[in-house]
Amino acid sequence: MRAQTDNDAVAITNMTSSSTKLETLAVHGGTPVREKLLPYGRQSLDDDDILAVVDVLKSDWLTTGPKIAEFEGAFAEWVGARFAVSFSSGTAALHGAAFAAELGPGDEAITTPLTFCATANCVLYQDATPMFADVCDDTLNLDPQEVSRKLSPRTKAIIAVDYAGHPAALDELRQIAERAGAVLIEDACHALGAEYHGKRVGSLADMTVFSFHPVKHLTTGEGGMVTTNDARLAEALRRFRNHGISSEARQRQEAGQWFYEMVLLGFNYRLTDIGCALGISQLSRLEPNLARRREIAAQYTKAFHDWPAITVPAVRKGVIPAWHLYPIRLNLESLSGGRTEIFRALRAENIGVNVHYIPVHQHPYYRDRFNYKGGEYPVGEDAYGRLISLPMFHSMANRDVEDVIAAVSKVVEAYRK
Ligand SMILES: Cc1ncc(COP(=O)(O)O)c(C=O)c1O
Repeated sequence: MRAQTDNDAVAITNMTSSSTKLETLAVHGGTPVREKLLPYGRQSLDDDDILAVVDVLKSDWLTTGPKIAEFEGAFAEWVGARFAVSFSSGTAALHGAAFAAELGPGDEAITTPLTFCATANCVLYQDATPMFADVCDDTLNLDPQEVSRKLSPRTKAIIAVDYAGHPAALDELRQIAERAGAVLIEDACHALGAEYHGKRVGSLADMTVFSFHPVKHLTTGEGGMVTTNDARLAEALRRFRNHGISSEARQRQEAGQWFYEMVLLGFNYRLTDIGCALGISQLSRLEPNLARRREIAAQYTKAFHDWPAITVPAVRKGVIPAWHLYPIRLNLESLSGGRTEIFRALRAENIGVNVHYIPVHQHPYYRDRFNYKGGEYPVGEDAYGRLISLPMFHSMANRDVEDVIAAVSKVVEAYRK
């Protein structure tokens, strides 16, 4: 054990080499590992993407045109689902799924606290109640046993999240949902391209939701998608994203008709043809981009798997994650600094680390509305206090990955007890 002094600012690296090198952490005035901040995630666009968008800008249809069906068709085929319905964001897509699941007042939907708030908010948009169930300690995904404990006659849906890109325990959750007569919605906003027992996510739940935000595997600027094998759900989703109107403007124009009817209360959640053109172009590079994310994850895991101060993300048998995030957990018991100090020290090294997520029930809105006190979901809450997401995006260069590994090593070593 190393004595803790002011020299916590000093990282001792190359511990095994004879010439032990001392480095002052950037947070304490030393030279940062990088000159410029490396973000935790970012989009990558190429000339083909730009040309695809320009073509649409020169065409007759900026929105609700031919690119919608083209993108939806290509996406459905890629994930192996019968239907894909595009939305203006992942959040809108989640709202669509909650609507199509017929969530309403008095209904409950069970979901994970360790997610972006939109996963639970979509239940509230439908005036139903989100019920949280704790997560498994390895994957930080919904724990099926905890879900079973939360079932009630009011349970209408289970909303699983594929945290960081690792599919949830879909087989177990599907069985629970079927027994309970509930709809299984998979929030796969982190998991485009993830594989579960040999199949890509997209047709493994009743509805699977994706996001095309710029930090995701594929971007349309803002955008989202719901995939399903159920024609009835697909039709409900299409109407919901288009004000509840039973036909689309282009169908009417092509049929020479003006007549339309609003048959349910929907929203304007349409994705534009501009976004869809970008999505089609991005889809063509999805496989190499996923491969690059997997390569980066493997490099991180190789570097950190045997560090006592770090728990690397678990990968269950039969799963190939999509690695939207690479969240490490700090074993704070073996460190002299807390997560906040280590986070700040990494940022000072110009590594754009992040934290995913503040558990949803700990946000003021949820605390106040549902009277959460903290302590309700011990596994998720404990993980939250330890989590740090390392930069992860497919255009990261090898040098970037090396910088992250060097900075984490430098900082964690400096805080080692
Ligand atoms: C798990 C999860 N669900 C839903 C969303 C919402 O997606 P969007 O930002 O496209 O609305 C996000 C966004 O990051 C997310 O991480």
